[in-house]
Amino acid sequence: MAPMATMGLVELDGRYSPRGIEYFATRARGGVGLITTGCILVDNEVEPKVEDYWSFYPRIDSIRFVPRLSELADAVHDWGAKLSVSLTAGYGRVISKKLFPLAKHPVGPSPLPWLWDKSVTTRELTTAEVEKIVKAFELAAEKARVAGIDAVEIHGHEGYLIDQFMTALWNKRTDKYGGDIGGRLRFPIEIIEAVKRGAGRDFPVVFRYSAKHYVPGGRDIEESQEVAKWLEQTGADAFHVDAGAYEMWHWTHPPIYQPPGCLVDMAEAIKKVVKIPIIAVGKLGYPELAEKILEEGKADFIALGRPLLADPEWPIKVKEGRLEDIRMCVGDHDGCLTRIFNYKYLSCTVNPAAGMERELAIVRTERPKSVLIIGGGPAGMEAARVAALRGHKVTLWEKSSRLGGNLIAASIPDFKRDLREYVKYLSTQVRKLGMDIELEKEATPELVQKMAPEVVLVATGATPIVPAIKGVDRDTVVTAVDLLLGRKEVGKTVVVAGGGMIGCELGVYLGQRGKQVTVIEMLGDIATNMGRSGRMQLLEMLDEVDVKVLTNTKLIEIVEEGAIVESNGEKRVLKANSVVLALGLKPAAALSEELRDMVSELYTVGDCVEPRRLINAIWEAYRTARLI
Ligand SMILES: Cc1cc2nc3c(=O)[nH]c(=O)nc-3n(C[C@H](O)[C@H](O)[C@H](O)COP(=O)(O)O)c2cc1C
Repeated sequence: MAPMATMGLVELDGRYSPRGIEYFATRARGGVGLITTGCILVDNEVEPKVEDYWSFYPRIDSIRFVPRLSELADAVHDWGAKLSVSLTAGYGRVISKKLFPLAKHPVGPSPLPWLWDKSVTTRELTTAEVEKIVKAFELAAEKARVAGIDAVEIHGHEGYLIDQFMTALWNKRTDKYGGDIGGRLRFPIEIIEAVKRGAGRDFPVVFRYSAKHYVPGGRDIEESQEVAKWLEQTGADAFHVDAGAYEMWHWTHPPIYQPPGCLVDMAEAIKKVVKIPIIAVGKLGYPELAEKILEEGKADFIALGRPLLADPEWPIKVKEGRLEDIRMCVGDHDGCLTRIFNYKYLSCTVNPAAGMERELAIVRTERPKSVLIIGGGPAGMEAARVAALRGHKVTLWEKSSRLGGNLIAASIPDFKRDLREYVKYLSTQVRKLGMDIELEKEATPELVQKMAPEVVLVATGATPIVPAIKGVDRDTVVTAVDLLLGRKEVGKTVVVAGGGMIGCELGVYLGQRGKQVTVIEMLGDIATNMGRSGRMQLLEMLDEVDVKVLTNTKLIEIVEEGAIVESNGEKRVLKANSVVLALGLKPAAALSEELRDMVSELYTVGDCVEPRRLINAIWEAYRTARLI
């Protein structure tokens, strides 16, 4: 299991909370061999933070933290897994403006522009301060061993402080911690030695780092191979290889648009030059791919991060050949990274029980009821799944001929394969649970009354917004959903109205098909309704296929030659063969209104309440179905 920051799963003082321990134990029970914790800071004095900070991070800098760490180790060992703690030196120039708004002056290996506000320059750490951090690794490693922990992973990852020391772009020091590659690696080398001093020479030390920053002037693969040779010689026992930096989050945190196994090349390149084992990471939740990487000798271990948030039983399911039961990560980061950056506990879009394993466990009901679920989109299917697992007698009605709702259209582009896998998972699960599923069954109050279920849950979703403008009924106009479902074709030149996530994805989808696309957006920016890493990559993809983007531009009318748009009070015609409407969705709320006085136990979930992100539909469905 790859390290993932356990925000919200620690006590205010920095001890793991019982919920945090349960979170890890659940993954150990699911068959993970080696669990790595999220980052733990070894020192809290050199890099200044605010008091509140500790409500987010576990600590290891005092014996006070050893009892809970040993409870964690025991809980993981109970299931036959091993535990590694990820130790970090801190943030340096990337310390978050959002998580640490009151952080005192940011520090760094050298005076550098602070990532979040270039007018602030980091303060260069003194040699004595760097030595103090090294010593803190020794003390932390000593405690890790005493707590019964099995290994340490050193966080040389994605442009954090250790990586800043390692990289010429960020390290301009003239003392022993700077200069040539040997000088720049002195900090991680001393850290590895310190961990071995603290925990013992036989104590396994994994070193994690980015083999390619993808930042101009950052580290390339060739230099990363040099780094590997140096650190192997120092005593590193394995490398955990990833990519990217804070500026290139779509490599470090590969979103849905990255292909599975997008970082394996990096692992393979490092493996070529060292003898110690290599851990590969990055969208490896596809079991056949993970197996192939091992078989082909590209890496020695497979690390999973988000796939284990989405499905803690991934390893057991693979072992038992139950691949169709694996709940796939959808790579939107809404439930994990976006949540933790909004001060919420680490969890998952498709697994609302992540981080709340006990509190939100699916418990069998003592009083099974007949439950009618109307709508076979994501919210309806998730509610049906949970209600059926709880022992209710579930009937699922879907008015179209397929399960999936708007996710069917949303997952058509090739680059949305993770979502396709998720739709497949949900529809397989509801079928396997043996409920009564009726397709092409449109619910009416009369039909509901005739069936007379004890509970009705409405999840009728949302339909595309079609603005009441002149020309909107022309043959050249198509909604995003109809286009993706192949109900209508578009010509060579296309205007996409709406530059939210859907409009931008459509721009890429059409661009990849050789169309000349212009995306217009009323607001001042595009794709603002999505996570940081996904957005970074989507903007890059728009560029790659030469999609033109016009912001502060409004669709006024559709005419024979194309679309009339307005920006800065001026109207003009954008020539186009077709206009695609990606202006959002409106709730299909009529049925729930009609049923209000007819059904005593009535719930409404998902987009028919208000069209939002997938996480809202899934969480609402899950949390509601567990109360029935
Ligand atoms: C919510 C979240 C928190 C993360 N926190 C850390 C961290 O504390 N330290 C670290 O080295 N990597 C961290 N990562 C990166 C993951 O270890 C992993 O490299 C990344 O998610 C890609 O792997 P995956 O596709 O299997 O999720 C984090 C990732 C996520 C999604």
